[in-house]
Formats: sequence, structure tokens, C-alpha cells
Amino acid sequence: MSHAPLDLRQMVEPDRVHRGVYSDPAIFALEMERIFERVWIYCGHESQVPKPGDYYTVQIGRQPMLMVRSQDGKVNVLYNRCPHRGAMLAGDRCGSTGEFFRCSYHSWTFHTDGKLRTIPMMESGYEGTRWGRDNPDCNVKRAARVASYRGFVFASLSPDGPTLEEFLGPAKIGFDDMCDRAPEGEVEIVPNCFRVIQNSNWKIFLENQLDALHPSVTHQSTGRAAHEVEKDIEKRTGHAPLSYHMLSAFATVTIDKWDNFQTLNYPHGHCILTGYMGLRPQDPDTLEYERVLTEAYGAERKEAILSTNIHHVLLYPGLSVQSPLQQLRAVRPLGVDRTLTEIWHFRLKGAPEPIYRRALAYYNLVNSPATLINADDLENFWKCQQGLTADGGDWVSFHRHYGRDIEKDGMVETGPGMGTSEAPMRNQMKAWTQFMERA
Ligand code: FES
Ligand SMILES: [Fe+2]
Repeated sequence: MSHAPLDLRQMVEPDRVHRGVYSDPAIFALEMERIFERVWIYCGHESQVPKPGDYYTVQIGRQPMLMVRSQDGKVNVLYNRCPHRGAMLAGDRCGSTGEFFRCSYHSWTFHTDGKLRTIPMMESGYEGTRWGRDNPDCNVKRAARVASYRGFVFASLSPDGPTLEEFLGPAKIGFDDMCDRAPEGEVEIVPNCFRVIQNSNWKIFLENQLDALHPSVTHQSTGRAAHEVEKDIEKRTGHAPLSYHMLSAFATVTIDKWDNFQTLNYPHGHCILTGYMGLRPQDPDTLEYERVLTEAYGAERKEAILSTNIHHVLLYPGLSVQSPLQQLRAVRPLGVDRTLTEIWHFRLKGAPEPIYRRALAYYNLVNSPATLINADDLENFWKCQQGLTADGGDWVSFHRHYGRDIEKDGMVETGPGMGTSEAPMRNQMKAWTQFMERA
């Protein structure tokens, strides 16, 4: 493999990107340092750690971290590393540590906010050394900044930079839309998540999220098969379950129709894809849900909530939120050509059970590793990575509808009838360059 030049300016042009951006391990290392270990990264939802001592491990860039609720009720994010000789404090993915962490190597213990609690035979062992309770290095290191928005916890490993809300900007609508759909105004986690490892660079996943050209091609066979069955059921019973529509839409929304949707592209690489699925049927379950929502919010506000027209919100660099269906995918890069995605699912607090079942159907049918939709995408991701590692050409094209975007108020909108524009990819690479150039 020929190596890409490390001059970032030479690798990213407004309408094309050098393949080294996806395949060069040196670029990957720099991305971890300058993007993932600096910006706000999603850790998890507060409801994953309901009680003091509950913890969940999470990877931020290359750092193994712990999200843990301390005795005072706060959610902390700590490095999963014992300050003694470096062992990870938690080896399990999640659990409850009780009132403190105890390192399995030499039994140092730490409070759930990271402060040193005890060291065996501390006085005799450390008297006269520079190691002791007053030395801050004896505590478990904490993430530089932790903040949460409507229950979604983020951490930044850099003390500087915009606040979480500034960083999210208009893209925080993904969380608002999800929570507002709950009669109680909040969601709770459905344990556990699906985990998928894809054999490709992390950016390929994010680019695909708002790639409106691919669904009717990549997922056509899946959509068609579902549509056949849907039509048959409809013929026999007069009505097909909504779950078939979730899959058949990939075929019935034909390639030309995708241009009717729109993407909204914001600073920091965030983007929104407007809705397309028409998930507001008039069956008794939906009507009951609408009744409960009206009771909670009033008719006007309910209408505003349910007509929010979003399909996906992409929060760069590592989160894809599907708010109307209460799910999100968190992207954890493992290597230049290996990426873990966690696919999480939430329950609308106060909503009737069938509404949860409906979102669960989407989770299983469209987002789970068992579905053909996921398999279709994974195959493309792997093929892209293979192609980009080879010498068949140096550039990745993002020219679709280039020069026709509408710029206003610091954001970029795709023009009318240009929903398949590659504006989201251009926007992501613009943010990428800005992050990467900040030494
Ligand atoms: S490494 Fe943790 S107590 Fe020694
Ligand atoms: Fe797809």
C-alpha cells in the first residue's frame, strides 16, 4: 500500500477526499488524539446507572472509561485505571461496585467519585515517600468534563472547548424530539444493546447514515421481499402490520423520491435528515398514545411534537440518533479498519406498551445485527474499506450536488429536490479538517 501524504490540506478538498483518510493508521492515531479524545463523546444514558455504585464501561477514543453513579447521586466519568500499577478497576462491562471500587491486584480502594479510600498498610508502606492521600495522583483520574443533556451523558477528555450545549447546537433536537414524545418528558434505557463490529473505518458508517441515495439500491432486495409479503397479507386480511412497512419502505420509496427529502448540515459536522417513513398511522394503539400525549401536553403541543419531521440526527463524530423510534447508535472506533457500533434503544416514559413494541420491532427489523438491512450495509462498508486500501485510485468523490447547497445562518441546507446531495459528507469532512488542524 502506498502511503498517503500526512498534509491534511492535501487530503481533504471541498468535493473530494484522499483515500488515506480512511486507511492510514497514522491518520487514525491523530483522529483519536484530536477528535475523539477532545470533543464531547456520548457515554450513555443516566438510567443505565440508576443507583449509587452502578457503573458502565465505555470506550472514549483509545481510553477505557467508566460511567459511575457516586453516593451523592452524581454521574461521574473516570478513567478505568488504578493509579497504583495501572490495572483496570472494572473488568466487567457493567455492574454495581457498591460503595467503592476495589482493585483486584493489590486491593487499593476508591470512592465512586474516584477519590482514594484506602491502601493496605498505607502508613508503614508509604511514610516518607511522595505517595499518599494528599497526592492527587493517588485518585482515579476523571474525565476533564462531564455533562448531560436530557439524561444523555457526554464526556470530553479536554478541559477546553465549547460546552456540551454549544457543541450540540441545533442538533440537540435529536434528544428533544425523543424525550418530548414521552408523556413524562423523558426516556429510559432498554438494556442491553446490540454490538456490531464492522470491518471498516468509522467515517464510512457516519457517511452512510445520511446517504439518501443508497437505501433504495442497497436495501432494495430486502424491501421488495417485505413488500411482497405485505401485499399478500393485505389482500388476505385487509390490513398489514406496520412492521412490514418499516422494511417495505426501502423498496416503495423509489430512488427518485429520495431527492424530495432534505438534509440540514450544521457546524461541528452534525446533520439532520428529514423524515420519510410516515410513521403516524391511525390505529387504536396510536390513537390511545395520542390521547395520553394530549393529556400530558395539550392538543396543540402534542400536534407540534408528533409532526416533528426528523428521521435521523447525526451527532459528529460518534452518534446517530433516530428520535422518532427512540434508538441511537454509538460509534466506537477500534482501529483504522475496525469499528464497533452499539445500538441502543429507549422506552418513552408514560407511553402505552404497544408504542414501545412498535419501536422494538423497528430496532429488531432494521437496526439489529440479525436483520438483512444491517447485513446489506455491513457488506458495503467492508467493500469500501477494501477498495480504499488498494491502488485503484486515490480519491473518494463527494461531488453530488456540489455547489448547489444553500448556505444560511451558519448552516448548509440541501436545495429543493436535492435530498441525495453529498452535502452531509462534505460537512463532516469540513468539521474533520477543523478538528484535525487544531494541534
Ligand atoms: S494495580 Fe491496583 S492496587 Fe495495585
Ligand atoms: Fe443502509
